[in-house]
Parts: sequence; C-alpha cells; structure tokens
Amino acid sequence: MSCPYATSRRGMLVGAGGLLAATTVRASAQTQLQSRVQTQGQTQGQTQGQTQGQTGPAAAEAFYGAHQAGIATPQQTHCYVMALDLTTTRRADVVALLQAWTEAAARMTAGKTAEPLSTDLSRPRGDGGSALDLPPSRLTLTFGFGAGLFVQKGADRYGLAAQRPAALVDLPRFNGDQLDPKRCGGDLMVQACADDPQVAFHAVRELVRIAYDRAHPRWAQSGFLAAAPAGDTPRNLMGFRDGTQNPTTAGPPDLPGRFDDVVWAGAEGPAWMRGGSYLVARRIRISLEHWDRTEVDFQEQVIGRHKMSGAPLGKTAEFEPLGLDRVDSDGNPIIPQNAHVRLGAAAANGGAEILRRSYSYNDGLSFTAERWPPWRQGMMYDAGLLFLAYQRDPRTGFIRIFEPMSKLDALNQYVTHNGSGLFACPPGVVLGGYVGQSLFETAG
Ligand code: HEM
Repeated sequence: MSCPYATSRRGMLVGAGGLLAATTVRASAQTQLQSRVQTQGQTQGQTQGQTQGQTGPAAAEAFYGAHQAGIATPQQTHCYVMALDLTTTRRADVVALLQAWTEAAARMTAGKTAEPLSTDLSRPRGDGGSALDLPPSRLTLTFGFGAGLFVQKGADRYGLAAQRPAALVDLPRFNGDQLDPKRCGGDLMVQACADDPQVAFHAVRELVRIAYDRAHPRWAQSGFLAAAPAGDTPRNLMGFRDGTQNPTTAGPPDLPGRFDDVVWAGAEGPAWMRGGSYLVARRIRISLEHWDRTEVDFQEQVIGRHKMSGAPLGKTAEFEPLGLDRVDSDGNPIIPQNAHVRLGAAAANGGAEILRRSYSYNDGLSFTAERWPPWRQGMMYDAGLLFLAYQRDPRTGFIRIFEPMSKLDALNQYVTHNGSGLFACPPGVVLGGYVGQSLFETAG
C-alpha cells in the first residue's frame, strides 16, 4: 500500500556529535510510523496491498497489515530473492532472528537504516550504509518458511513438525526439470522488491548481516521488470506482454474478483497460516538465441497471443477473453492445443489460478548445452524468468497447472527450469508483533 509517509535514509545519518538530534529524529520517525499504521487502519483482519496511487521514489509501502506486503502490492521494478539455511539448533534463536528481521524490515521499508546507527565508530554501525540517501522506493520485504524449518532429514528441529502445513509439500519432479540443488530449497526466504535495485539488495544484505550466526545464504536471484508506461503490461525477455491474465480484486458487482480466494490461505489449513500465501519460485532459463531465430508467427502460436498487442490469437485487444473454443475454417483451434496460455488458463485446469509476480533475470553468460534442436553448445545467455507465483495452496495452484504444462507446452522447447523453491509465507504482522509469530506461539 502506498503511503504518504516517507523518510529518507539521509535523515538517519547520525554524526558522533548529533546524538540528541538523532534521538529526536528517531522518536519522531517512530511516531510517524505509528500514526501511518493507525491512519491506514492496518490491523489484523483488514485487507492490505492496494496502491493509493502514490508513485515515485518517495513512496513507501506499509509493512504492517493483515497480509504481508510484496504479494498484492503492485509490482515494483526490481526484485532480489534469497533463501537461507538455518544453522542454529535452538528454537529461541529462530524466534529472536525473526523478531530482529521484523524490526529491521519495518524500518527499512519506511526508508530508514536497518538498525539505529551506533555513534561508536569502533563498532559496526547497525547498517552498512549502501542505501543511505535513498528514499523508500516502495520497498517490500516478504518472508517465507521452507519445509526445512519444520522437518530436516526426519528431525523435528524446532518443535514445529506438527505445524507443517499439508500444502507445504515437497514439489514433485516435473517433466524437463534440470534443477541444480544449489539453486533449490532453503529454510527461510526473503523477497525484497523495490523501485531501486540498490534498495532491494541493501535490504537483503542487512537481513543477512543480522542473521550471521543463525542462518546462512543458500541461493539468491535478482530480477527486473520493464518500467512500462502506466496501464501497459510490461514485456518479458521474449518480447511478449507478461501478466495480462492474473487474478484481480476488481470485477462487476455480481462477479467480484477472485483475488482473495486465489491468493490467501484460509480455514482449510493450519490457523497460523490463515491470511498467508504460498510462494512457488522457479528460476527458468530462456534460450534467447533460439527464440530470436524463431519466426514471429510461430512465437505467437507458442504463446497463444499476438506479440505486439498481447491480444489472444485472432483478436485485437489485450484483455479480450481467450475464447478457447474458437476454431478456424478447417475446424482447428485458433489457439493451439499446446499454446502456453491455453495450458495455463483456468478453464483448462478445473478453475485453478495463481497470482504470477515474476521478474526477468540476466546473469550474463554460461556454458550451455541446448536440449532441443539445433542442440547447440557454447557460451549462451544465462537469462530468463524468475517465476514467482503466490497461491492459497500449491497443490491446487501451481502443481495443478504446471503438471500438464511441463509435458505439453510448446514453450518448453525454449525454457529450462533450473532452480526451485516452495515457501509458506505467513500472514502479515501487527505492530509490536513479528513475522511468523502465529506459528511459534501456537506450536508447542
Ligand atoms: C520462462 C517462462 C515463462 C514465460 C516466458 C511465460 C510467459 C507468459 C506469457 C507471455 C503469458 C501471456 C500473458 C499473460 O496472461 O500474462 C503467460 C500466461 C500465463 N502463464 Fe506463463 N510464462 C512462463 C512460465 C510459466 C509457468 C512455469 C507457469 C506455471 C504455472 C505459467 C503460468 C501461466 C499462466 C497461468 C498464464 C495465464 C494463462 C491465462 O489464463 O490466460 N507460466 N505466460
């Protein structure tokens, strides 16, 4: 949720002689943070995440609310996702870490340093300073729990095994998966999104610093999104508009948007997850060299939409319904049976839907052996899509949709999944609480 309150990290720069001033600044920032939360009514049970229309670097997204920010929040232009492995054996350390992360996240999303800056220059300062002078940039920090928090190699590490949601499954192996274990899994996950890449990276870096002796980084992936003109759907690295068909809150009065139903966990799972969501993250390399040598009309058959307009094949406007039943004069479907959008459509998946919140990635070049004709080998782009999808239950969301897609999709000849993670993202935090409190305070 955009918010008029925005404190520059510059205001947090404290010189050795400015302790009194700094205390005053912090106190007033604290007051402002509190009043922002109260005026916006961000208490448990209320819906959060809709923009109030404020944009630009000074805009801040509310940290506290019924749901974690960074899910329903309109997408920022940059993203940095990291998964970490817990190294501590003590449950109390995990709770203390989540408490410290919560405090730092609330500060950083409001444009402040991760921790109050120490005036003792002989010690680390409580923030490395790489985002000093930068505005909040709509930073959101979204936290998730991997299966390893609950059970690791059969061991109930922190007394949480009984609270593992059935929906937090071990993802099955999908057709074509070429997963690199070093890019998969993780006990904890943080997704940082911001309109400035340095703000997003800084935030994760500070959280990692705070976690130092309790959790270690496992994998990380940065991503970016085209800053498309307002109202335009951004294009991905394949040159297609990506994000056209996503659940929304809007809709005619007799047909309200399905957003809440699709995204937020409800009474079907453990109470501690109610109002949370499940994130499926996949690192998907796209064979850009191969794609760039493919005729545009074939590309359109692969996706099932027109490249320029984003309209379903045979139509002219982007947001027209797919019309999957349409056939040509020979009786062939206008949107091919193996087109990506047909296989992704709710109508083809028993009504299953997910909220896609993906980013493109570019990690330079790597030596790659193509698995499709023309079977080239050599240095190729290591670029593609950091696919991020939120849903109330991955068994009826991502798995339901991707299982047939992984076998039949024409897009598969251009893409390879090489990283994967599934995380239970708990509900939002109330002022004074901490991320995951509902889990730790219900489990024995
Ligand atoms: C590199 C990989 C991928 C690319 C480049 C890609 C690209 C696209 C594009 C261009 C569209 C059409 C525009 C839109 O509605 O947003 C689309 C739709 C969609 N994609 Fe993907 N996608 C990828 C992977 C996936 C994966 C792994 C899933 C897994 C479930 C998925 C699920 C969907 C769904 C559900 C839709 C909407 C279908 C509809 O109802 O019309 N995509 N994707």
